Amino acid sequence: MQAVVYERFGPPEVLRVAEVPEPSPSLGEVKVRVRATSVNPMDVVFRSGELKGRMFSGILGPKVSILGTDMAGEVVALGEGVDDVQVGDRVVGITPGLPGGAYAEYLCVDASAVVTIPTEIGYAEAAAFSFAGLSSWLFLQKIGGMEAGRRVLIIGASGGLGTFAVQLAHHYGAEVTGVCSTRNVELVNSLGADEVIDYTRDDPTDARDAYDVIFDTVAVGSFGAYRGALRPGGVYSTTVMKPGVLVAMALNPLRRSGRRAHFMVGSGDPQEGLGTLRDLFIEGALRSVIELQLPLQQVVEGHRLYETGRTRGKIVLTV
Ligand SMILES: NC(=O)c1ccc[n+]([C@@H]2O[C@H](COP(=O)([O-])OP(=O)(O)OC[C@H]3O[C@@H](n4cnc5c(N)ncnc54)[C@H](OP(=O)(O)O)[C@@H]3O)[C@@H](O)[C@H]2O)c1
Repeated sequence: MQAVVYERFGPPEVLRVAEVPEPSPSLGEVKVRVRATSVNPMDVVFRSGELKGRMFSGILGPKVSILGTDMAGEVVALGEGVDDVQVGDRVVGITPGLPGGAYAEYLCVDASAVVTIPTEIGYAEAAAFSFAGLSSWLFLQKIGGMEAGRRVLIIGASGGLGTFAVQLAHHYGAEVTGVCSTRNVELVNSLGADEVIDYTRDDPTDARDAYDVIFDTVAVGSFGAYRGALRPGGVYSTTVMKPGVLVAMALNPLRRSGRRAHFMVGSGDPQEGLGTLRDLFIEGALRSVIELQLPLQQVVEGHRLYETGRTRGKIVLTV
């Protein structure tokens, strides 16, 4: 089968398409003919050899050479013990093992990491919402405690995580403020934001006692910068691992106002989250914003674009 491989850490150009052996499903796994995957931050972390990824990707060089953390496609074979998915089912899923393996024609994953999708959800849309949507859903539901009337600030509202976070928070009845630059204001409004702060004109850290929840997917600012913008008892959570947020978390119990810092990591129970996202998609409460679809062979271009940090929504790779 064809897959994107890399033999050394480095820039997008280390990625190349090669012929590799097709995998076979083990106990509890499904084999999927991948139709779409997307560019995710972990792919970049592993490919570039960033220190935080080397524990998983290899200390001196990549030990597993196929990237790809999410996918949508058809089930073509079942491992022993799988009975809730059938051959021929259309599925969306994530790759629970790291670095992944979805940048390939075929992928074997644990059946607990996929859910079925109806034909009305396209493979590209599904791949786009799987990892990024799941990350945002996990935060908003499990940490942000979404409920009607909560005031939520989403920083990076036009990005992969942010476009889903805005829609999800709006769906759960929160009062949503998104932060993005001028060219993305219209997009973020269209996703359901009640208010948009254009960070090229206004500083979102100027707000006082304004938000119950701040979801920061960019982390240009820090908990210290946003503390005053939180209401007492509010939570600032970032998806970006920086030493400052870990120190701020350690100090949470000492803050009398109850304002707290949080670093978000993990995907929770993928079937619960993916099933919810699929149902919201069918209801029309969620859509995937896709800036660009490229064939898998153009993965280098996809990574280059993602690394500009300016992507609107997601970059999808079709297989
Ligand atoms: N911990 C976890 O479990 C987890 C899971 C997934 C992702 N992540 C992390 O989350 C981060 C976000 O990932 P992503 O894929 O959503 O990123 P992304 O798609 O690359 O974000 C790009 C967006 O960020 C916006 N942006 C850039 N600077 C901004 C600023 N100063 N203020 C507001 N918006 C700004 C850009 O909009 P403009 O062009 O308008 O500026 C662009 O639309 C990554 O660092 C990733 O590693 C963590």
